[in-house]
Amino acid sequence: MFKFQEAERLLKLPIYVFAQLDRVKAELVAKGVDLIDLGMGNPDIPPPREITKALIDSLGNPENHRYPSFEGAPEFKNAVSGWCKRQYGINVDHEHEVVTLIGSKEGIVHLAFAYIDPGDLTLVPMPAYPAHFRGTILAGGEPVVLPTTERQGYLPDLKIIDPALADRAKMMIISYPSNPTGAVATKEFYGECVAFCRKHNIILVHDFAYAEIYFEGRKPISMLSLPGAKDVCIEYHTTSKTFGMPGWRCGFAVGNRQLIESLRKIKTNLDYGLFTAVQKAAIAAMTLDESQYIDKVRATYQRRRDILVDGLNGLGWQLARPKGSLYVWFPVPAGFDSTEFTMKVAEKTGIILAPGISFGELGEGYVRAALVAPEDRLRDALDRLKKAGFRYA
Ligand SMILES: Cc1ncc(COP(=O)(O)O)c(C=O)c1O
Repeated sequence: MFKFQEAERLLKLPIYVFAQLDRVKAELVAKGVDLIDLGMGNPDIPPPREITKALIDSLGNPENHRYPSFEGAPEFKNAVSGWCKRQYGINVDHEHEVVTLIGSKEGIVHLAFAYIDPGDLTLVPMPAYPAHFRGTILAGGEPVVLPTTERQGYLPDLKIIDPALADRAKMMIISYPSNPTGAVATKEFYGECVAFCRKHNIILVHDFAYAEIYFEGRKPISMLSLPGAKDVCIEYHTTSKTFGMPGWRCGFAVGNRQLIESLRKIKTNLDYGLFTAVQKAAIAAMTLDESQYIDKVRATYQRRRDILVDGLNGLGWQLARPKGSLYVWFPVPAGFDSTEFTMKVAEKTGIILAPGISFGELGEGYVRAALVAPEDRLRDALDRLKKAGFRYA
């Protein structure tokens, strides 16, 4: 048998708990268990007909089957610029300040390849979406954890960062509404982020994947709406959550032109951009009437959130309602760590959750439920938890 040594960068990655969970899921399915899968933030609300029709129509044009442009078609970048202006009031020059991505995850990780050398530091509030720290590790750099807690609304305290460490940091990755905690940020906090990154010459990454998934009408703002932000900031957007298109792999980054240019450079060496037919469909998405689709999506997620939070509170938890994103983040009962609790719940109830440890060490002690199942399935899940005797005491 040949044996090949994996590169250091792979060996350095923390274990991927979702792979373990996938095995458990496969075993349960083989046993005929009816799974309620709230593990991944994998939206189940399909895109509206206007979007699928645009895709199908564009498949009829042979030109659309050729390699696309690396950075995105001019019409796509124009649509992005219009979307950013309408939704967030920000000005984005479609020629120099937009790049199309094959999903935003790809762009977040590849930015690390553009700027992080071995030994470079990236500041990452924890718990975090794994790509926020794994990208830096893959590029040979070191993530520096900025601890966040429920008490502080899951916003890191930038004032306690050692200035010498801040001077050494190359990048900081912020993301609200937050995966996994559901927290949202304030304008004041964003102002602090911009000032901090300007002071210490740090690349400010804002992952705005859940820009449109917010509740009670409290719309999050773009980091780029802060004065001076564009000097240091790149912001990531995706059609995955907003338009229920996670499988289409469509995202884009906007902001500082040097950062956009570097991302384009990386992409010319790694991929050929986004399938033109998907770009056409995304243009249709970004020009949809909001009340026709996104408002309904938000209302659906909000109802699901309420069912799950109220149901868990009925089982002893004391959860506040998350203000945005697709998740309910809750502590595990005493006697379990997050992986043990996830596995136990899966075995006893067929409900799949995400263990907090997969969002970094500071996620330990918590689990995350994604709001990606219809209301009756969420009620069923709560029933199963109750019958299996799961409570928070
Ligand atoms: C915070 C955050 N950023 C980015 C992504 C990736 O989105 P995309 O489908 O655009 O790659 C996710 C997916 O769950 C996410 O939670």
